[in-house]
Amino acid sequence: MSNLENKRIVLIVSGGIAAYKALELVRRLRDGGASVRVVMTEAAQRFVGQLSFQALSGEPVHTDLLDPAAEAAMGHIEIARWADGVVVAPATADFLARLRAGAANDLASTICLATSAPILLAPAMNQQMWQNMATKDNVATLIKRGLRSVGPDSGAQACGEFGPGRMAEPVAIAAALADLFVPQTLSGIRVLVTAGPTHEAIDPVRYLTNRSTGKMGFALAQAALEAGAEVILIHGPVSLSAPSGAAAIAVVSADEMFHAVMENIKNIDIFISCAAVADYRIESPATQKRKKNDTSLSLTLTPTRDILKSVTAQSMPPFAVGFAAETENLLEHARSKLERKSLDMIAANQVGVKGLGFESSDNELHVLWKGGQQHLAKAPKEVIARQLVGLIARVHGQKES
Ligand code: PMT
Repeated sequence: MSNLENKRIVLIVSGGIAAYKALELVRRLRDGGASVRVVMTEAAQRFVGQLSFQALSGEPVHTDLLDPAAEAAMGHIEIARWADGVVVAPATADFLARLRAGAANDLASTICLATSAPILLAPAMNQQMWQNMATKDNVATLIKRGLRSVGPDSGAQACGEFGPGRMAEPVAIAAALADLFVPQTLSGIRVLVTAGPTHEAIDPVRYLTNRSTGKMGFALAQAALEAGAEVILIHGPVSLSAPSGAAAIAVVSADEMFHAVMENIKNIDIFISCAAVADYRIESPATQKRKKNDTSLSLTLTPTRDILKSVTAQSMPPFAVGFAAETENLLEHARSKLERKSLDMIAANQVGVKGLGFESSDNELHVLWKGGQQHLAKAPKEVIARQLVGLIARVHGQKES
C-alpha cells in the first residue's frame, strides 16, 4: 500500500512555467490514493487554468484569501487544518522568499503559515535565480526550519538557458511526498549509526584510508529519523551534511570512532555499524613529515580495535547490525561475521564492482539474520536504506516481543 493512501494533500501552485507539470502531479497523487485540494497563486492562474486542476483533482480550486463565501467558515484555516501534507510545486523564487519571511498576503502563503502539516517544496526557476545567494539562503533557512525540498533538476530551461532550476519530475515529487508519511516503526527507539571511512595517520600530512564516502550510513541515519527514531550518527571524514535531526559526531581515526561509540552506546536500542573502519593503523605515526629517499619504506601496521565486536561483547548489548563488505564469497563471509561478531543481523555488501558499494550512489544488499534472509535489489542508497531500516524495525520488534 502506498504511503499516500488516504492522505489529504494540499497542492500549492505558484506562478512559473513549470505549473503545467503540477497537473501531472495531481494525477500521481490521486493514483497513490491521496485526496488533493489545489490552491493557486494569482500568478499561477496566468500559466494554467483553474478548470484543469479542478477536473483532475475532483475538487474546487482555491485562489482567494478574502473569498467571502469560504471565509465565512475561516476557509484558509480550514484548508490548513485539513491537510496531512502540503506540497508547493512549483515553488518560485518569490514564493520561497515570502515563505521564509512568514508572509501571509495571499491564500497560498497563509496556508503554509497556518498549517501544522509537513511541507514539501519543489523549487523551479531560472538557473541564475536558483544560484543567487538570496535564494540559496532562503531555501537553507526553510530546510533548517523543518521543511523538505525535492529538486530542482538540471537541464535545458524554458528561458533558453541551461543549468539547475527545472522542477523535479512529478513522479519524484510524489515519491518525496510519500516519504513524509513513512510508518513510524522506530518511534521511541534510539539508534546509533556509524558511517564513512577512518583516516589512520602515517605522518602529519599522510594517512591510510578506504573508498567509503559515508553515503550508505548517512542514508541509514536519514531513514531511521524518518521512521521516528532518535539518531546519533558517528562518522569519519566525509563531505556530506548530516541529516537534520541527527546528533552528528565527527571523528577521524578508528581509535576516535571506538571512543565515540563507547561513550554513546549506553541506552542505545539499535546499533548499525556501516562505517568502513580501518582494520589496521600505523603503529607509530611519524611526528614530522617523512622525507623521501630512494630506498623502499616499510610501515608497521597494528590491528585496530573491533568496534562492533566490543559493542556486542557488552553485558546488555543493543540490537546489533553489521555490514560485511566483501569482494568474494559474499554470503559465506557474511555468515561467518554474523556468528563471530555475535550480531543480530548482517548486511552483505558486494564491493569491488562498479556501480555498487563504495563510492557509488546505488547499492544492493543480502541481509541475513538468525531465522531469515532478504535480498534488497540494486537501487539508490536512500531506497536501500529505507528498506533495510524497515527490516531492522521488524526483526528488532520480533526479538523484543
Ligand atoms: O560509504 P559508502 O561509499 O556509501 O559505502 C558503503 C559501504 C560499502 C562502506 C558500506 O555499505 C559497508 O559495507 N560498510 C562496512 C565496511 C566494512 O568495513 O566492512 P568489514 O566487512 O570490513 O567489517 C565488518 C563489520 O565490522 C562492519 O560492520 C564494520 O563497521 C565493523 N568493523 C570493522 C572493523 C573495525 N575495526 N571495527 C568495526 O566495527
